[in-house]
Amino acid sequence: MSTAFLIASSRPQGNTVQLANLVAEKLSRVSVFNLDDYDISVYDYEHRNRHDDFLPLIEKLVSFDHVVFVTPVYWYAMSAQLKIFFDRFSDLLTIEKNLGRKLKGLNCSVIATGSWDYPPPCFEDVFKLTFSYLGMPYQGMLYCPVDEDIDPNHSIPGISEFVARLQG
Ligand SMILES: Cc1cc2nc3c(=O)[nH]c(=O)nc-3n(C[C@H](O)[C@H](O)[C@H](O)COP(=O)(O)O)c2cc1C
Repeated sequence: MSTAFLIASSRPQGNTVQLANLVAEKLSRVSVFNLDDYDISVYDYEHRNRHDDFLPLIEKLVSFDHVVFVTPVYWYAMSAQLKIFFDRFSDLLTIEKNLGRKLKGLNCSVIATGSWDYPPPCFEDVFKLTFSYLGMPYQGMLYCPVDEDIDPNHSIPGISEFVARLQG
C-alpha cells in the first residue's frame, strides 16, 4: 500500500507533525506533502484560481492507495489550511469532474492532536461526512491528546492498529 500524508498544521515541527512522523517511520511506502509548500487559495465560485496548486496536488494524491490528512484540532475543527483545501473539493464536482471521479475508492484516514483528552465529535464528523459524500472509504482516526510535547518514547495508544490499517 502506498500512503500519502497531507500535513496541515501551523507548526512545521509541532505536535501533529511529530505524531505523523512516528507513524510514517513504521511505513515503507510513504510520501509526505505539506500544504505550506503549496499555493492554494480559498474556493472561488468563478474558478479564477483554477491554475493554483490545488489541481496538481490532487493529481498526485489520487495516485496513492491511501491519503492521511494530518491536522491539529483548532477551535473544535480541522486547521484553516486544511479547510481551504477541503472547500476546493468543490472544484472536482464542477470544473474537474473527471479528476473528481478518481477520488472514489481512495482510502482516507486522519491523524490529529489536541489538548483535550478526546476530540469533539464534530471534529471527526466533518471528515466522515465529506469522505462519504465523495465515495472515499474512511479508515479512521489516530488522535493523540498532547499537554506539551509528543514523547517519542511513550507509546501512543492506537498507533499499532492505525499503522496496520495503513499497511492494508
Ligand atoms: C488556534 C488554536 C486552537 C486550538 N483549539 C483547540 C481545540 O478546540 N481543542 C483542543 O483539544 N485543542 C485545541 N488547541 C490545542 C492544539 O490542538 C494542540 O496544542 C495541538 O497539539 C497543536 O498541534 P500543532 O503543534 O501541530 O499545532 C488549539 C490550539 C490553537 C493554537
